[in-house]
Amino acid sequence: MLLLLACVDPAGGDAAQGDHGHDTASETVVLEFPADRWSEGGLLSGTLVAGSVDDHFGYNGVSPGPTFRATVGDDVSISLVNDLDDGTSVHWHGMEVPNAMDGVSFVTDPVSPGGSFEYAFTANRPGTFWYHPHVDVSRQVDLGLYGAFVVTDPADPVPDRDLVLVFDAADEYEGEVEAIAGGHDDGELHDAPDPSQTTWRVNGLSQPTLALEPGERVLARVVNASNAAYLSLNWPGARLVGGDQGRLSAPASVEEVLVAPGQRVEIEVVDGRGYVEVTTSMWTPAGGASYGAAEVLLYLDGSDTEGEPLGFTFDGALPSPDPAYADLVYTFQGGAHDEAWLIDGESWPDVTPRTVDLGAELIVEARNISATSHPFHLHGHRLELLSVNGVAPSAARWVDTVDVPIRATVRMKLSADNAGSWALHCHLLGHEDHGMMTILEVE
Ligand code: C2O
Ligand code: CU
Repeated sequence: MLLLLACVDPAGGDAAQGDHGHDTASETVVLEFPADRWSEGGLLSGTLVAGSVDDHFGYNGVSPGPTFRATVGDDVSISLVNDLDDGTSVHWHGMEVPNAMDGVSFVTDPVSPGGSFEYAFTANRPGTFWYHPHVDVSRQVDLGLYGAFVVTDPADPVPDRDLVLVFDAADEYEGEVEAIAGGHDDGELHDAPDPSQTTWRVNGLSQPTLALEPGERVLARVVNASNAAYLSLNWPGARLVGGDQGRLSAPASVEEVLVAPGQRVEIEVVDGRGYVEVTTSMWTPAGGASYGAAEVLLYLDGSDTEGEPLGFTFDGALPSPDPAYADLVYTFQGGAHDEAWLIDGESWPDVTPRTVDLGAELIVEARNISATSHPFHLHGHRLELLSVNGVAPSAARWVDTVDVPIRATVRMKLSADNAGSWALHCHLLGHEDHGMMTILEVE
């Protein structure tokens, strides 16, 4: 089958389409990328209608939902309309929003069926962010409620194409779709997927082809929106230029780049390598690299015309020093027999919030003493990654989500500069729904 992937280009012009001939064409399928929404005159406004899309969920009739695009400093006002049968909310993952705009149910009540809520905040940091509900999280996200939110730094070069790639894998609720369609949601977690059976979709498409213009320069923004599946990304000839939030201090190759659930990476792709397969190696949170063939995520139908690099500025900064103390230590554990997942021996909602002073600079240490990886995520802030098991990253980077490997210690620096009650949790959403969440109070 021949696949055509239509992409909205950053200028909002005509969709670029392409095809490749590695398969026998029996039919032509034109698949649309969801419409992008842009800020105008410093304001980004829009409506998100959460509702059913076929057997799944989506926003405004699509999953992933629309991509929002703002420039640093722009004001954002987005109203959520709830067309679902259950309460929902929007959490702006990674964004430094006021606490009342964070979409978590211990701060604001979920939006009832038929209700609406107006989210207003300023997009004050660059990065590739995403949005998803923070109510009945693992089920609602897995069924398709998520989308990307791009905040552009005006100092960055403008690519020929600014491409958002939202990845999702078949996760634990996919088997429940039939039950939901029939009106019986059993609300139970199903067995973890067999990693060899994982099938990734990108922007809802299976192994699409992206046609590049000769010499075209693309910034690919990768979001891992899956509940539990890790990407171990291989993109031949491309450069890793950004993490969750803004530029890395030095570029890196895209070879076995781990993108845990909730994490994002920004990748510079310059045409000139002809036909390229972008793949993920088999990887499981229960042990890392695992047995099985790499899976193709997408194909690039490029040419041999080499484009110039985009010209990002990398400041070369070293990661900040990793001191010999910690202000906040979080221990991730559990999962042995009863599927309870704990932070510091506590399981949500029976947790003891920790309180820190507004404006404090803190060293945060996440220790994993369990037999599976956990992506650490803190709301409303960004953190600088200092070390993993005592080893500093090769370049300075800002994170809001970071994988804590089995038995590993990850250390980060936090400026607690956003007042409120902030969720801190594992972004394996089954773990989060089974207790692996706590609260950090900043006051
Ligand atoms: Cu992406 Cu608390 O979540
Ligand atoms: Cu976890």
